[in-house]
Amino acid sequence: MVDILLGLQWGDEGKGKIVDVLAPEYDVVARFQGGPNAGHTLEFDGFKHVLHQIPSGVFRTDCINVIGNGVVLDPVIFKKEIEGLAKFPIDVRKNLVISKKTAIIIPSHRLLDAAQEQAKGDSKIGSTLKGIGPTYSDKVSRHGLRLGDILSENFKSKYQALVERHKQMLNFLNYEYDLTEAEGIFFEACEFIKGFVISETEYLINKKLTEGKSVLAEGAQGSLLDIDFGSYPFVTSSNTTAAGVCSGLGVAPGKIGEVYGIFKAYCTRVGSGPFPTELMEETGEAMRKEGNEFGSTTGRARRCGWLDIPALKYAVMLNGATQLIMMKVDVLNIFEEIKICTKYQLPDGSVTDEMPFDLTDTKVEPIYITMKGWNKSLKGISDYNDLPQEVKDYILFIEAEVGVPITFVSTGPDRTSTIKR
Ligand code: GDP
Ligand code: IMO
Ligand code: MG
Repeated sequence: MVDILLGLQWGDEGKGKIVDVLAPEYDVVARFQGGPNAGHTLEFDGFKHVLHQIPSGVFRTDCINVIGNGVVLDPVIFKKEIEGLAKFPIDVRKNLVISKKTAIIIPSHRLLDAAQEQAKGDSKIGSTLKGIGPTYSDKVSRHGLRLGDILSENFKSKYQALVERHKQMLNFLNYEYDLTEAEGIFFEACEFIKGFVISETEYLINKKLTEGKSVLAEGAQGSLLDIDFGSYPFVTSSNTTAAGVCSGLGVAPGKIGEVYGIFKAYCTRVGSGPFPTELMEETGEAMRKEGNEFGSTTGRARRCGWLDIPALKYAVMLNGATQLIMMKVDVLNIFEEIKICTKYQLPDGSVTDEMPFDLTDTKVEPIYITMKGWNKSLKGISDYNDLPQEVKDYILFIEAEVGVPITFVSTGPDRTSTIKR
């Protein structure tokens, strides 16, 4: 079966950590969407490592890691990432496979991302500027390049045709650029990638499934950044929800097993866009400090706020989450009281627990309940029963609201700070 692990909020829920924890139970770990906009942090044996393009099962030597067709891949970032892995006792040329159909990010995609954000002015998305939107746009408009193209004799001419289009768009946007240096680095990275297994990964994955092997699909970003269901237009350019797995890896819906939905015990968001429970004052600042909430990809400060149940319920519904994983509960140690938003009040005074069509023009007022905090350290606790009663009450409350069991609780960034219930 293909199990899925994906974020239920605005990304950075702790997917990298949990994929690394679960990976020993799987034969294959596969990324199905997103690209180097992702930053997945793993901590073990005193190491901290951030992955952008490479699946988070890479440190588990028995695991095959797949970069699926639904991903967008920047060869330059990929090369850097592989070089960064050289100090670990793993052989990525053996346990990593990339789909021939993976879309490639070329240097002018990054320029276009920057030019389009600049043109948007105050309404900019807050993109990571990795070229994600322009690359997916080219894929959908049927102008894009795929990894298999770098193996073809006429790759340079295909590349040139695409760059010419981009130059026209950049000129139209009055964006100044110089591509010479970036192009050299790009073509060098394309040569480097040829040393890896590049194949039709849909066959690989389906053969594994036929042999009874297990696959874990690793989501990037989060459900509230989904192109269809997120807070549009402040979203990323792919389907981050469970449906993206079928198209992003080439597996049939009937092959999907468990859907692990992962969320922080509070909320964060990086970049622009609506965030109903955002805390603008000291409480938000305290959360950011305690949770070290700075972007793994861009270093930007993450906006922080209380847990948002209407948003969580929406994400659970869209994904058909069968189990929940609650992260960073230790960050709430510092609070005497903890708030949870259970409903929204709409501008007309009515109350709802559903996500409105739009959250930018429709200003919702969160309705909170307050719970007693535990106000003590959770360090060293490895058994659910040893957690303070207030933590258990927090977990039970969320489960009752959302209707799905919380099966893992994470109390620290390290692999070992994970409590299975
Ligand atoms: P991802 O994008 O979903 O993989 O998440 P990120 O790696 O971007 O952000 C999660 C951050 O929280 C990383 O710095 C992790 O090391 C850290 N982290 C993960 N789980 C926990 C936890 O339970 N407690 C604390 N304090 N930090 C955690
Ligand atoms: P992981 O996988 C958090 C956000 C950006 C921006 C919007 C669009 O680490 O959870 P894009 O670069 O895709 O054009 O940016 O989405 N964003 C993320 N926020 N975690 C991520 O990935 C993100 N990837 C993109 O900040 O608001
Ligand atoms: Mg991240």
